[in-house]
Amino acid sequence: MSATFRFTLNATDGRARAGVISTPRGDIRTPAFMPVGTAATVKAMLPESVRATGADILLGNTYHLMLRPGAERIARLGGLHRFMNWDRPILTDSGGFQVMSLAELRKLTEEGVSFRSHIDGSRHMLSPETSMEIQRLLGSDIVMCFDECPALPADEARVAESMRLSMRWAARSREAFGDRPGHALFGIQQGGVTEELRGESAEALKAIGFDGYAIGGLAVGEGQEAMFGVLDYAPDMLPEDKPRYLMGVGKPDDIVGAVGRGVDMMDCVLPSRSGRTGQAFTRRGVVNIKNARHADDPRPLDEDCACPACRGYSRAYLHHVFRAGEIISSMLLTWHNLRYYQDLMDGMRTAIAAGDFARFEADFHAGRAGGDI
Ligand code: GUN
Ligand code: ZN
Repeated sequence: MSATFRFTLNATDGRARAGVISTPRGDIRTPAFMPVGTAATVKAMLPESVRATGADILLGNTYHLMLRPGAERIARLGGLHRFMNWDRPILTDSGGFQVMSLAELRKLTEEGVSFRSHIDGSRHMLSPETSMEIQRLLGSDIVMCFDECPALPADEARVAESMRLSMRWAARSREAFGDRPGHALFGIQQGGVTEELRGESAEALKAIGFDGYAIGGLAVGEGQEAMFGVLDYAPDMLPEDKPRYLMGVGKPDDIVGAVGRGVDMMDCVLPSRSGRTGQAFTRRGVVNIKNARHADDPRPLDEDCACPACRGYSRAYLHHVFRAGEIISSMLLTWHNLRYYQDLMDGMRTAIAAGDFARFEADFHAGRAGGDI
């Protein structure tokens, strides 16, 4: 345990990096995948089960928690860690991105964004100052700057204007966050798929100074090729001695490609959400468990996986409980998917430390069949 927040880079292999973020609530091994616990739960999982998959840190959401059950209530109940029974690090997103995709009647101004709740229609306002206050009340270990980003494709003038607003908000976020030992504030680079705008954004963030730097505004409709195009230059624009976090990514091949381009942290709803819709990620590719051809299949989902779903159950059973709408279906598939993602991160960390990342990446792609298996 460390009294402060610190990032140690232990190994690099090409552009891939392996290290540790030390926090008062425990270490985060990087490259790290953060399961998403939007509403103070990783859906269908107990926190101790999430930990058993290998997760060092969870993601929570300002937007959802401020609306329900409310940040003040969570603070009165001892903070988000106590409330959800997860005592390890939590990173919270700042709310602006979720407002733009989920809330109703949004109004964006220099001050911030006002909106109506998608839950009960109540009116709210989020700004850099209120987002910092809510994330403080939650007790978040890694706080994200309040930002905004357009869906892609968007015209360059609109992307530039939005990025510059987010940079002014980043300076206000830094000021409002203040000095909180043991807690970290991350800036968020914007700029769409334009190298010059990404560069301008990185310079603005570095001038303010943050404990870590996120790459935002990707996986918003641009496709993998365009995203990798940005990741070919964007991580190198950010400080080498601070963690780099790619927000909202992604599929297993997105994650391997991002780590190979110098990303240290990622989060995505995909493994947990897919677990509830019958899609499993395996070393050989994607399995759609609802498919009738699994009905008599005695094999596990993934022969090489040590999770409870693969050790104790056949594809036939998983097919049956999914078709029957049984709760255990979501529990088992979510557990498997989160374990698969964490095993993938562990494999990459080991390969980077051994100077073997290129072979890891080649084996990863060679092992996967095209389409459904
Ligand atoms: N989640 C995915 N992308 C983003 C982004 O650009 N900003 C924020 N705040 N959250 C995200
Ligand atoms: Zn498994």
